Amino acid sequence: MDPDNQIIVALDCDNRPTAEDTVDRLGDECSFYKVGLELLTAAGPDFVKHLVARGKKVFLDLKLFEIPNSVAGAVRAAGALGVSMVTVHSMGGTSIMTAAVDAARAFPDLRVLALTVVTSMTDEDLADIGVSDSSEQQVLRLARLAGKAGCHGVIASPQDVAALRSTLGSDALIITPGVTLPGETRFEHARPGTPRAALAAGASHVVVGRTVTRAPDPAVAFRLVQAGLRTAAPAGVE
Ligand code: C5P
Repeated sequence: MDPDNQIIVALDCDNRPTAEDTVDRLGDECSFYKVGLELLTAAGPDFVKHLVARGKKVFLDLKLFEIPNSVAGAVRAAGALGVSMVTVHSMGGTSIMTAAVDAARAFPDLRVLALTVVTSMTDEDLADIGVSDSSEQQVLRLARLAGKAGCHGVIASPQDVAALRSTLGSDALIITPGVTLPGETRFEHARPGTPRAALAAGASHVVVGRTVTRAPDPAVAFRLVQAGLRTAAPAGVE
């Protein structure tokens, strides 16, 4: 896979001008953006259409967790915007994942990705909600369920990528957020890793947010991530 298409920049901000400024500053080098609930709610779907019209791919991070009928409707609406990826919560069970996958069939380029355990969650957080398995066990269980439901891939923390790749096989998309460049600190990332380590372990894409968008020069930070991916180290090696 081409490293240039494996980096998805998360536009996590609360207004369109800031998001557009980031897209302008990254220019042609960045072709893939994640729009999440904050920006979608603040700027509306027109901004998503605008990105698609500019030739960008969009990962619409809706994190759907609803009744199947509503999930299907939201996936159809996302497909109509022209986005390439949409997310559904695997903790919502097989029926909502199947509804999402069925709704996406009308849009051949739309991929449905399942969230397993968000990367900020620890085993203690899981215990608090009644899950006694470790996060790794829970991630694998949910990923298998997502695969059976027909999802095209999963969202996973850097530490879970290797196990997921061997569980899901070579065709699955594995999208890895919660990554930082070597030496950077993000205190809310309970299970962090670098983009390079995530790719080396088998991720198909990495999601990079503040590392790029909050950098003094986002284009320079983006190139640093790119350069790291081009020299992907063997699994487990930094
Ligand atoms: O931390 P960063 O700014 O790179 O986050 C980019 C995206 O990655 C966020 O939009 C969020 O959805 C996702 N993320 C995550 N788990 C984390 C941190 C971020 O899934 N612990």
